[in-house]
Amino acid sequence: MAKTLNVAMIGYGFMGRAHSNAYRQVNQFFDLDYRPVMKVACARDAGKLAKFAQNWGWESTETDWRKVIERKDVDAIDIGSPNNTHKEITLAAAAAGKMVLCEKPLAMDLAEASAMTEAVERAGVPNYVWFNYRRVPAITLAKQIMDEGRLGRIFHYRACYLQDWTISPDLPQGGQTLWRLDKEVAGSGVTGDLISHAVDTAIWLNGPVTKVVGDTETFIKERPVQDAGGTTKAVTIDDACQFLCRFANGSLGTFESTRYARGRKNKNAFEINGENASIAFDLEDPHRLQYFDHTDPDHLQGWRSIHVTGFEHPYMKNWWVPGTTIGYEHTFINALADFLKGLETGTPASPTFRDSLPTQAVCDAVLDSAEVGHWQSVVPV
Ligand SMILES: NC(=O)c1ccc[n+]([C@@H]2O[C@H](COP(=O)([O-])OP(=O)(O)OC[C@H]3O[C@@H](n4cnc5c(N)ncnc54)[C@H](O)[C@@H]3O)[C@@H](O)[C@H]2O)c1
Repeated sequence: MAKTLNVAMIGYGFMGRAHSNAYRQVNQFFDLDYRPVMKVACARDAGKLAKFAQNWGWESTETDWRKVIERKDVDAIDIGSPNNTHKEITLAAAAAGKMVLCEKPLAMDLAEASAMTEAVERAGVPNYVWFNYRRVPAITLAKQIMDEGRLGRIFHYRACYLQDWTISPDLPQGGQTLWRLDKEVAGSGVTGDLISHAVDTAIWLNGPVTKVVGDTETFIKERPVQDAGGTTKAVTIDDACQFLCRFANGSLGTFESTRYARGRKNKNAFEINGENASIAFDLEDPHRLQYFDHTDPDHLQGWRSIHVTGFEHPYMKNWWVPGTTIGYEHTFINALADFLKGLETGTPASPTFRDSLPTQAVCDAVLDSAEVGHWQSVVPV
């Protein structure tokens, strides 16, 4: 008999849709004890919220997240609202004994993230951060290959996360969907929004980062404020960020992120070079993991392109037959399945809030370094 998990979703935007889809599909494709029930969706605009709830099958709606947390029929709070709301909602949810699933970046900065982690741990509630790219099967396969030690000593880790949607100076900042350009709401620009994904993956694959030196740029200094009748405001987020780092295992890292890479819509890529082998991944070709094995016979050496769609590949036995593919939305379903499996087995799925603190610490250190202009140690967490 399935155990029900009554879920409240905060936010009906991009992530509200991605998570709703995951709640609807997860039990169809994964054999799990827990069955999420889509109890209540919450956002501030009642009209739009009603349409969203009807479309995705949420049983009820609330326009104030505090009311959602007060409800006795809710077990888990899923935070898919902008970054400046994560802390307050988490603290209230944890105090009410609810599980918390939170979108990335976990918080505006490390201090907030630490307070949130203490709150969920004090309350003893399961918690999880939606770093969904870990659940791209090719990236999970990269983790398996790293854990098998096939690369040997690691020399280099290089990553980029590139977009191009903010190049026009006419694009306003603030408000619906454009809160990412407003530092008060987002906390930072591409560092929290994009590089945090690359850093989460890097730490997961290659271990802790010990020190960083970074540089940021804001290309457009002033923008109109959305729906504010022509008012403009200084832009204070980072439009682009690059940093060098050292990993605890002695390898060197380079990271680059921008929303000004014309033609790049969501290029999230990395390459790792080890003594015996290298691996490379690019979200523009998400089903493939590139692998070069120096232990192959000399005459057969070359990059192989592994089509990560076989039953033996991570997550793929839950989907279709080998050779067929899955999409972006499946990374959230895979992530949710892992969270629910963690509830079932008592071994929490990663990343928990605590697991996400090192990523937040790296992002903070990068922004600090960009400000002071020299290397910064990453606060151990
Ligand atoms: N995992 C990923 O790859 C990924 C991708 C996109 C966004 N995100 C993260 O998800 C979160 C939401 O981003 P998004 O792209 O879905 O944003 P969005 O702008 O599309 O949606 C935000 C939603 O939050 C609602 N909201 C805002 N303030 C609220 C409040 N006080 N109470 C209730 N609802 C409120 C808005 O009405 C809207 O429905 C952010 O933290 C973002 O960084 C993660």
